[in-house]
Parts: sequence; C-alpha cells; structure tokens
Amino acid sequence: ARAQIGVTGLSVMGRNLARNLARHGYRVALHNRSVGRTRSLVAEHGDEGDFVPSESMREFVDSLSRPRAVIVMVKAGAATDEVIAELTGLLEPGDIVIDCGNTHFTDTIRREKDLAAKGLHFVGTGVSGGEEGALNGPSIMPGGSVEAYRTLGPIFETIAAQVDGTPCAVHVGPDGAGHFVKMVHNGIEYADMQLIAESYDLLRSGLGASPAQIAEIFREWNGGELESFLIEITANVLAHTDAATGKPFIDVVADRAEQKGTGRWTVQSALDLGIPITGIAEATFARSLSGHTDQRAAAQRVYHGRAADAEPTGVVQDPKQFVEDVRNALYASKIVAYAQGFDHIQAGSEEYGWDIDRGAMATIWRGGCIIRARFLDRIREAYAENDALESLLVAPYFADAVAAGADSWRRVITTAVRAGIPTPTFSSSLAYLDALRRPRLPAALIQGLRDDFGAHTYQRVDRPGSFHTLWAGDGSEVEA
Ligand code: 6PG
Repeated sequence: ARAQIGVTGLSVMGRNLARNLARHGYRVALHNRSVGRTRSLVAEHGDEGDFVPSESMREFVDSLSRPRAVIVMVKAGAATDEVIAELTGLLEPGDIVIDCGNTHFTDTIRREKDLAAKGLHFVGTGVSGGEEGALNGPSIMPGGSVEAYRTLGPIFETIAAQVDGTPCAVHVGPDGAGHFVKMVHNGIEYADMQLIAESYDLLRSGLGASPAQIAEIFREWNGGELESFLIEITANVLAHTDAATGKPFIDVVADRAEQKGTGRWTVQSALDLGIPITGIAEATFARSLSGHTDQRAAAQRVYHGRAADAEPTGVVQDPKQFVEDVRNALYASKIVAYAQGFDHIQAGSEEYGWDIDRGAMATIWRGGCIIRARFLDRIREAYAENDALESLLVAPYFADAVAAGADSWRRVITTAVRAGIPTPTFSSSLAYLDALRRPRLPAALIQGLRDDFGAHTYQRVDRPGSFHTLWAGDGSEVEA
C-alpha cells in the first residue's frame, strides 16, 4: 500500500511530526536530502508505526497515494523554495504541498499562486509547540484552499493537541492566512515572555527576592488566571541550578536574547497595516536592546553613581502587596498584548481578504502551542458573545479584569520608574489603554503643527470638511 502522507526534511521538527503521524496510524513516507536521517529515524522509531523510507525525491513521490500530501519541513527561505521546485517537477495536478516551517506569509502567498497555476495545492501551515508539540500534539494553523483542507483536515485534527475534545487545528483561511496567524502568535509569544521577564526583574531587583523564591511565586501564579505553559516553565527555569557553578541558572546565562525573526516580521507587518501592537513591538525592541552590549557597557560606565541614578533597592514598602501588584500588572498587560495581536489578525484578514475567525484562533491556541493558556478560553468566549468586538479590552470579562488591576498596574510602574527598572512592555501597555480610553488626545496639536508647516489641513470637531489656517498670513481659516 502507498503512504497517506509524506514528510521531507527530517531534522527534529520534521522527524517528530512524522512520528506523530505514524503513531496515529498513518502510513508515512519519509525523505531527507541526506539519507542518514531517514535511516536513523526508521532504526530508532520504526516500531512506532508504518514508515515508508525513500532515498530519492522521485521514489518518495512515487510512494504516496493520490492526491499526494507532502509536508515540507526545511529551513524557511531559499531551502524551502528549492525543495518546492524539486517537488513540483514530480507532482501531478491535485497534489498538495504543505509548508510547515516558520515562513513569512508573503512568501506563502507567492508560492500558493505559483503552485495553483500548475494545478497544485500549496498549504502554508503554522505549527506551534516546539519539538514536544510536534511529537505529542501541536497547534496547527493551515492556510491554503478549502479543497486541500478537505484532505488534510482530518489528518491535522487527529495529530493536533486536543482541549476538551476539540482539536487545536482549524482551516485559518486562504493562501498565507495560516502563516500570518502563526507570525502573530509568535509576536504574542515575544510579548508574553517580555512581560514575564519584566515581572521577574521587578521581583528580583525591586523586592530583592531570590530566583528560587521567584520560582515559587510563579508556581503560585500558575494556579490562577495566569495559568499557562510559559508561566509554568518560568518557574522551572528560575528554580534550576547550574551544575558547573552551583549558582542559579538564570545568573550564569548571558543577558542577550536572540531571535530568529518572527517577532520582527510581526512588527513590520503591523506598521504596514497601521495597527499599534505596542506590547509586541516593545518586546521585540527589548530583545534588540539586550544585544547592544557595547552601548550598554558605555552607558553603564558613564551613568554609574550619578545623582540621576535610580535606587534599585528599598523602594518596596509592602512586599506582599507588591507581589500581588506585579501579578495584576502582568495580567492586565497580557490582556493588552493579546488585544493588540487579535487586532492585527483582524487587520490582516481584511487587507488580504482571508475572513479569519478570531474566536477559532483563540480556540486552537488553547493547547499545543507556546502561548497556550487558560486565558485563551476567555478570549474564545468573548468572540463567541460578539464576533465584531472592537477590541478585546472592551469585552466585559477583560474590561473588568483590567479595571480591577489598574491601581496595581500604576503602582508597579511608578515603583519601576523610581527604581530605574525598565518595564517597557508594562508601561507601553498601560499607555495604550490610557490613550484608548481618553476622550481627547493631543493628536489635535499634531494636526495643527502639520497644517502650520506643511498646509496638510485638518478637520474640525464642529463641522464637516477639511480646513487650513493661513499661519503665515492673517491667521484666518480657509476651507481646503
Ligand atoms: C512555536 C515557536 C517557534 C519559534 C521559536 C523561536 O510556536 O513553537 O514560536 O516556532 O520558532 O520559539 O523563536 P525566536 O527565535 O524568534 O524566539
């Protein structure tokens, strides 16, 4: 019998996806550029299911039943293009190419168009959950055609994580929709992690708690509304001791955060769409800043011991209240980050005509993915109640949560400012909320300035039309 699905590219993610498929009873064709990986997968895990190994791309394609479904799991960019080109030469109309890498959605739009012209389906698919998820149940975000999903849906929904009997896989929308949503997922992942990092810094530097004590605090928080995979592993990382030195692991790791680029893509896309994802942007920039070691060293030298230097210790009067304040600030900022991310999804959906169901995205992020959290059920409910919600921040549950945490949030940021502890994501998230709820914004002044130096015109609050003031003349107003 022929294989029902194939995987080419058998480094850890591809390998684990193939094993997940086989463990669920699918007959899985295997291919890798160097055959060593294919052989070792069969040697080590051949007993987990039905694998059909191939040594060439032609043999691989021939081993699949039609319509052929081929998962490509190679490095995003040129490597993916190469494999797709090789495959398209061998596939036949109706066959399906699935890119499960972290691909930029505009590449997916381009490839889908190219392959559709050849009669092939191209399904750019976001897969989240890291190595563990790929093996035991990821969150799966496929784009591409409805027709392709008819073949792939049952497979994806079987191998995905399941929450309350609902699979964490759904057809997101046409062409690049799946990779777009995965990109925003990663942006939110950046914001989530930065918020956690800021909380840690406040507890460590502001309160003076040890990493082990902070691990306990996170463990406790994980029992409440903050319950999530990232909070859970934060406790593990903070409780970990470095074997070589006996020091807390967190103190022997260089304080420069890397990124492969999905956070940057999210911010670039949001700028293009005009969506203020300030939390995600601050989180992305915070990683960049951490890597500017020369500037950081110079600033440390120049500002050390200056009068303007902040007092990092002794700023917390009531430790118990402070811990609770940080928790509330974290939750409120997290709500802002998700609200912004879901706005971004909505804007992308409108711009590219994808018709993405935001409630469905919250549903498939409840399990399997890196940002999985109890909280996502609340988001699902908010969109179930009103799928045209202007912002998650105005949904009754979230509005109540944010309002209840607002005092804590302001206190934490005030403390952070006095102590000189940077909280870019906490602070910008509060600024975002304050700006949204403000009856009048100073944008009116910006309009005045633009009209003064560039005759860019402005609108009035009391009558329709566009106007210009003769700033260099008699100061009178003309209709533009
Ligand atoms: C996931 C993750 C994953 C991502 C890594 C690293 O959903 O499983 O988002 O796809 O590639 O977490 O991302 P950075 O290197 O950009 O931090």
